[in-house]
Amino acid sequence: MHVQESLDTHDAPLPQVLIMEDEVSVARGLGMVLSEEGYNVDLAMTGRSALDSFNRKMFDLLVADLRLPDIDGIEVIRQVKRRRPDTEVLVITGYSTVNTAVEAMKLGASDYLSKPFTQDEFLSAVKVALHTREFPSVERAEPPLEPLPEDALRLAEAMARVRESHAAKQEEVIPILQCVQNAVGYLSPEALMQVAEYTGMPEAAVYGVATFYERFRLSPVGRHVVKVCRGTACHVKGVDKILSAIEDRYHLQPGQTSKDRRFTLETVACFGACAIAPVVVVDDEVRANMDPGKVGKVLDDLAAKESAAAPASKPKPH
Ligand code: FES
Repeated sequence: MHVQESLDTHDAPLPQVLIMEDEVSVARGLGMVLSEEGYNVDLAMTGRSALDSFNRKMFDLLVADLRLPDIDGIEVIRQVKRRRPDTEVLVITGYSTVNTAVEAMKLGASDYLSKPFTQDEFLSAVKVALHTREFPSVERAEPPLEPLPEDALRLAEAMARVRESHAAKQEEVIPILQCVQNAVGYLSPEALMQVAEYTGMPEAAVYGVATFYERFRLSPVGRHVVKVCRGTACHVKGVDKILSAIEDRYHLQPGQTSKDRRFTLETVACFGACAIAPVVVVDDEVRANMDPGKVGKVLDDLAAKESAAAPASKPKPH
């Protein structure tokens, strides 16, 4: 099967991206996300059609799923890198293993995202892969949230636990980062600095590890995480109105956390539940057939419950 589809929407010479992904809804969802940001996007649903595309056209970035119906994704990356070494590669996979991650990085992949990932995680991985700080038109600056006083306390407690249970060596950096994130909720610049000091690694290397693994967060997460699907089915059924309603009511844009850290709003390319679109997932609970009123009520109820339980506004365990 050779399915190829162009989602070009802009005349300007913006980065060319090929998404190699055999799940049509995921491929289209990711394609829409990038097209909306101004990228020129082609889709390939098999490894062979991806290689054909590279024979016909230059791409700046290959977004590569690893499990394909014909050729192994790693083999496609190997061939693409051999023919066009300048192509950047971003791996997306639902079957991540350390071996494939290492193999992909050895071949020059800039990042490795495990499914499911959020739209913002995807976009920021694409931007890092393409060094798009040079492309101001596709850069979206988010003001960083101020650390809370209790963050410093939690970090101190976490580092004390780290000293008790982890050797001060480079090999321990991942469990140490996980331990700190579990305690604080995210990895602040101060946390990365302290981990670097403890392990004896350069700060840039610790930062590199923290940004390489999708499980690590570099900004605070809210006590309630609201994920809104922006896939094709949800888009057709009016998900944009839901996002606008959340923005109006809670002053939150996708990727942001409210100042009181009550809500984090994220968007997802597709939950794979298109039959019950529009879909919103609140704290891992799937909400079907949503509309702005229903989502507003869910969030208002959560806020009211928290206020009633005050002062128990502790961060959600991670
Ligand atoms: S488009 Fe598939 S769940 Fe929204």
